[in-house]
Amino acid sequence: MTAQASFSNYIDTHAEAFIKRLGEAVAIQSISSDARRRQDVIVMGNWLNGQLHQLGVETKLVDLGTHEMQGQTLQLPPAIIGRLGSDPAKKTVLVYGHYDVQPALKSDGWDTDPFTLVVDEDSGRLIGRGSTDDKGPILGWLNVIEAHKNLGIAMPVNMRFCFEGMEESGSEGLDECIEEEVKKGKEGWFDGVDCVCISDNYWQNTRTPALTYGLRGIAYFSINVSGPGQDLHSGLFGRTVHEPMTDLIKLMSKLVNHNGNILIPGIDEMIPRPDDDELKLYQVMDYTTADIEQAAGGKVALSEDKTVVLMGRMREPSLSLHGIQGAFSDPGCKTVIPAKVGGKFSIRLVPPQTPEKITPLVNAYLESEFAKFNSKNKMQVEYLHGGKPWVADVKHWNFEAAKKAIEAVYKKTPDYTREGGSIPVTLTFAESLGVNVLLLPMGRADDGAHSTNEKLDRTNFIQGSKVLGTYLYEVAAAA
Ligand code: BES
Ligand code: MN
Ligand code: MN
Repeated sequence: MTAQASFSNYIDTHAEAFIKRLGEAVAIQSISSDARRRQDVIVMGNWLNGQLHQLGVETKLVDLGTHEMQGQTLQLPPAIIGRLGSDPAKKTVLVYGHYDVQPALKSDGWDTDPFTLVVDEDSGRLIGRGSTDDKGPILGWLNVIEAHKNLGIAMPVNMRFCFEGMEESGSEGLDECIEEEVKKGKEGWFDGVDCVCISDNYWQNTRTPALTYGLRGIAYFSINVSGPGQDLHSGLFGRTVHEPMTDLIKLMSKLVNHNGNILIPGIDEMIPRPDDDELKLYQVMDYTTADIEQAAGGKVALSEDKTVVLMGRMREPSLSLHGIQGAFSDPGCKTVIPAKVGGKFSIRLVPPQTPEKITPLVNAYLESEFAKFNSKNKMQVEYLHGGKPWVADVKHWNFEAAKKAIEAVYKKTPDYTREGGSIPVTLTFAESLGVNVLLLPMGRADDGAHSTNEKLDRTNFIQGSKVLGTYLYEVAAAA
């Protein structure tokens, strides 16, 4: 057997142990956006660090300092920088992943406990928070290393690692950490990195593996409206005062229309129309409106035309309304006039848009619309966080290597996709290291990242681990 074949075989024969390890990871409630769970994020970082050590990876934990969240000063979870191998004759691949997860409560509508990995034998689903985003993919890399270590075969490439615990909350402190490591040059651990691979997104459907060459950026805002000194009784003050919520709802309704068109002047207009070649890319993709509706769990696609839907996600900006802070939202019928409300929305960005370019347009539009209300309330637009969009060169050997790996494992040609989601650190790696970055997804479109009953299919975990390893062999073989 070739080294590659015994590696593949090891993955198959150790699937149960790998799933058990995923269960251990899922059980740690590493929710970065909840101050009460911050210690669990740190525990998760230590757990991952311990696993890496056991597998022979040299690591250092980078203290990213503290930050303010929910009125508290909190320790940031550490970035884990790792290295395995320093053979000058081999290529060096840097891998990124995040060990934090989105919040989850059984009462959100989960069928099982979100932090107990449930193996559904009938469907083959591994269900639990973080299974697909992003603990499964991170553990995929560990599976690859373990196979090589226990089989006593050398890794085909040198590896470098960068794992963080704040991705779901804006990757606080990470850009600086990466830039500093790069700046150290020969003394730094990212010296000599030839390419980057990130497994933190999903196939476009449930059938066809994908390689991803683009991500949208994001700009996240809050519209804060206030006026009264405290919450008011609507019986005493209704039709008597300017109500913040009324102003806010009216403003929020002016951001986007029901077709998804962005109503802020100048934002949709920034994007060049697709030419025929680009249109063709979407037309030939293995994708249907049914796929989006299956993933969404409802017949709610904006169009019956798959090209329109695909372009909406991959090459168009989008604006989503997320919620209203300070609004009465508990059960019951409290007759309150909230004194201060914050409407949250974000805009997903595509080239040439950046948060810097669109923020002035957002501010100017909301201010001019608010002025039309003649309201005595105060309105202030707050920019909360953001990241630039990213597009990569798919002709690079890094993408070629991944294509070969997918063909070898899945016997299928991958879809080339641009994603609607954002991983701001992608651009940081591309720019600070000056190398090609590849997104190599493990999970499927219907995994339900961020949602209830998040899952990773067992086959995606196992075959996906093989893809990651095979990709390293293909990188090693690349010219
Ligand atoms: N894994 C996702 C990124 C992603 C989502 C890629 C969907 C492709 C499709 C990542 O964990 C994530 O949730 N990112 C946030 C980033 C934000 C907080 C800056 C996102 O996209 O909302
Ligand atoms: Mn993720
Ligand atoms: Mn996520």
